[in-house]
Amino acid sequence: MIFYLLHTEGDLHMTIPIAERMSRIGTETAFAVSLEASQLAKQGKKIYPFHLGDMNIITPPEVMEAAIEAMKKGKTGYSPTAGIPELREALAKEVAAARRLNLTADNVSIQPGGKPTIGKFIMVAMNPGDKVLYPNPGYPIYESQVEFHGGVGVPYGYKEGRDGFILDLETIRKGIGAGAKILIYNNYQNPTGASSPKEEMEELARLAVQNDLFVLSDEAYFDIRYSGEPMSIASLPGMAERTVILYTFSKKFAMTGWRLGAAVGPAKFIEHISKINVNDESCSNHFIQYGALAGLQGNQAGPESIIATLKKRRDLMVEKLNAIPGIKCFKPEATFYLFPNVTGALQRQGVKDIEKFRQHCLQETGVSFCTRRHFGRPLPGEEEQYVRFAYSGIDVPQIQEGLDKFSKFLT
Ligand SMILES: Cc1ncc(COP(=O)(O)O)c(C=O)c1O
Repeated sequence: MIFYLLHTEGDLHMTIPIAERMSRIGTETAFAVSLEASQLAKQGKKIYPFHLGDMNIITPPEVMEAAIEAMKKGKTGYSPTAGIPELREALAKEVAAARRLNLTADNVSIQPGGKPTIGKFIMVAMNPGDKVLYPNPGYPIYESQVEFHGGVGVPYGYKEGRDGFILDLETIRKGIGAGAKILIYNNYQNPTGASSPKEEMEELARLAVQNDLFVLSDEAYFDIRYSGEPMSIASLPGMAERTVILYTFSKKFAMTGWRLGAAVGPAKFIEHISKINVNDESCSNHFIQYGALAGLQGNQAGPESIIATLKKRRDLMVEKLNAIPGIKCFKPEATFYLFPNVTGALQRQGVKDIEKFRQHCLQETGVSFCTRRHFGRPLPGEEEQYVRFAYSGIDVPQIQEGLDKFSKFLT
């Protein structure tokens, strides 16, 4: 136990106890960038928000109407802890069809967002001291939850391939050799936008089966796709029984603030996840589940229009970023993130400290973005410099203007 001395106003002193585990919890540092940007905005500075994966696209009307209707019909009390049966069934059907799996409602535990599945998966699957492979650069909550619950994070990276980022399978093999039994895999990936080619995913699945790994497949961006067929590692031979899928309504239905998602996986494992639901939040919001149900059962015009909007933004951004000398940007087929290599551009400017560069750029131009550092500590031997641009919260005219300013700032 760590004790902090708290100084209060009347010069009274008291100690508040803070458990040791709190020194191991991480955060999403992208929210700190958001705070910086909003403070500048309050001072009247025009901000171009490329930093946060939130969406400025409104939730499809059929989802909103169904949620309001459910509220009016009195769905304002607790729901069953694993979610309303209709939604669990509909989601089982949806996930099974899109990934060629056999699923029933027993395989689904509804969650207040996609994010809770990460911590709950770790709590159910991992013992203190266990080694867990996780992506770095990657969504920072994996490392945070593994360390918070007493595990040992084993980061693996990505390398630049011909058309996009590819997994560093060698580091994964080494991690397995060092005793890792749990793998967190995020395809389609935040922040790199990486999509595993079929052979890469097959090799990863082979490693998982051969070495008896248990897998969290974070599929938050499975439906945010502009081309090609989506693929889940859970659908490969021997994987369904060892994989838990993180599903979220946040992105497909532009519902980031509604907080609704699910854990989908082996029924026995899902039962344990639902036990944590009872202890944590009792249940997810009741009437919102009816909204999500309408979204799944609707004609999909909403999600299609969201994709069309995002695709225009992606195409423009990739073109404009690649036109800046010293920047190389892949065109991801999924997610709403770009992870351009800015090494050359920074060298031309003599920039040594990328964080100072980010802050300077924000203050001078209002262009707000994250850097590789917001997605984990750089791995040994990593020399290239990257920034992450999200385009989920900024419209085409603002993208034009913002990237023109960014380009001028760099050149
Ligand atoms: C990779 C990844 N996983 C999970 C989440 C969490 O999604 P939700 O907002 O549904 O909790 C995010 C959100 O940005 C994400 O990028």
